[in-house]
Amino acid sequence: MPRVGTLVLVCGLPGSGKTTFAKRLEQETHAIRMCPDEWIEALLADLNDRDEKNRLRDAVENLQWDLTKGYLAKGLTVVLENGFWTEEERSQYAMEALELGAQIQLFAMDSSDLDELWRRIEIRNQSLDTVTWVMVREDHESSWAGYQAPTEEEIAFYDDGGFL
Ligand SMILES: Nc1ncnc2c1ncn2[C@@H]1O[C@H](COP(=O)(O)OP(=O)(O)OP(=O)(O)O)[C@@H](O)[C@H]1O
Ligand SMILES: [Mg+2]
Repeated sequence: MPRVGTLVLVCGLPGSGKTTFAKRLEQETHAIRMCPDEWIEALLADLNDRDEKNRLRDAVENLQWDLTKGYLAKGLTVVLENGFWTEEERSQYAMEALELGAQIQLFAMDSSDLDELWRRIEIRNQSLDTVTWVMVREDHESSWAGYQAPTEEEIAFYDDGGFL
């Protein structure tokens, strides 16, 4: 009988608290947490190389997803905090996990308050050593406008999860 792992998706815009929440889960449940930003930063030879940073994102997300599927098949719990801004992206991950026999969970960080998110992003911007990770207000506004927050119905499809 196949083992049943658990895939936890954490969605939300920058500054919404995904990493904070995912780290808490990691500690409390001994889950494996994978964060694309952390790997990209570790891989960059030049922290100021914005093109390379953008190129690495797909490669890192794909690599983490391949690893995740292997962990799920072994019955482990994996927390992904890629952002997952669209329902289409969330459901692609969820469907593949279901095919592996895994449980699925979706937690949606509150991303509704554009100015509160921007306040947190600005604080972080000021603490960064390199410009590569600095976010500008214009990009924040377009991300905010394009973000598809999950509906109650979408969350209800999952085995567990909720709005945070
Ligand atoms: N519920 C919360 N209320 C207030 N501040 C919070 C909350 N959760 C996180 N923060 C703070 O907001 C900032 C951003 O949090 P965090 O790094 O967890 O967000 P994120 O969604 O992972 O952002 P990114 O997508 O940019 O990585 C941090 O300074 C964190 O301490
Ligand atoms: Mg984060």
